[in-house]
Amino acid sequence: MIDNIGKPFFSSFKVDESLNWQMSRAEKYTLIGLLQELKPDVAIEIGTYQGGSLQVISHYSKNVYSIDISKAPGDLLASRFSNVEFVVGDSSRCLIDIFEKIKNDNRRLDFILVDGDHTRKGVYRDLEAIYSYPHIHPVTILMHDSFNPECRKGIRDFLKKHPEHITYAELDYVTGSYWHNDTYREMWGGLAMVKMDPNHKSAPIEIGQSQKHLFAGTYLHSIHLIKDRLQFLFPLKRKIFKMLGKKNRAEIYDTF
Ligand SMILES: C[S@@+](CC[C@H](N)C(=O)[O-])C[C@H]1O[C@@H](n2cnc3c(N)ncnc32)[C@H](O)[C@@H]1O
Repeated sequence: MIDNIGKPFFSSFKVDESLNWQMSRAEKYTLIGLLQELKPDVAIEIGTYQGGSLQVISHYSKNVYSIDISKAPGDLLASRFSNVEFVVGDSSRCLIDIFEKIKNDNRRLDFILVDGDHTRKGVYRDLEAIYSYPHIHPVTILMHDSFNPECRKGIRDFLKKHPEHITYAELDYVTGSYWHNDTYREMWGGLAMVKMDPNHKSAPIEIGQSQKHLFAGTYLHSIHLIKDRLQFLFPLKRKIFKMLGKKNRAEIYDTF
């Protein structure tokens, strides 16, 4: 059975298949199409892994900041992307310095891909860091994995609390699915899109969830009903895996 929902892929943008790209076909087409239009002066990617999505962002932007908590992406990719500065650290702590640098360089931040820490708190923190800065220009933000229940909660909670300056918000800009690999009925993928305009002063707009019913129905049959309630056991699971010398799934992001 072919279980890769990201390939084959047809586009005038030549995708380098050697760079693992953790997105579905629909998400890939969307990222390419959007960036072709936006042509960012400066873009930021939070969560780079093996550079699949970075190759597109780098191609269509003049300059890019890649933030990853692991130094592995920079080690692997720095020589391939001359317009990308690799920043190692927790994104919510690195963002403000990058925003300052962009402002001091008299550049325009046009685009951010949020694809780092997918926990509810992690996504919330990223959005809070993005939002807390007094941006000058409108920014388009894509958030990957908006179909994952925890990640979606983080995005939704944040936007509900901070609807100011938002001119467009849709949690299901691209819908996610049960993921196609060896995970059992885990909900992943999906792209949420937010357009933020610091000069937008009128009443806050509503947050779109065009596939709310699909999300709710899928959730009822998902593993998250059980799994997300047992999160408090995860540290214990990590300890047991370590004792047994087994790799935890999240560890694929640390070294490669
Ligand atoms: C799903 S992968 C990114 C996939 C990539 N955007 C793509 O489409 O191929 C998530 C990445 O986020 C990084 N990450 C996790 N938590 C982070 C954090 N708090 N700050 C920065 N990066 C983080 C991981 O090291 C990993 O490389």
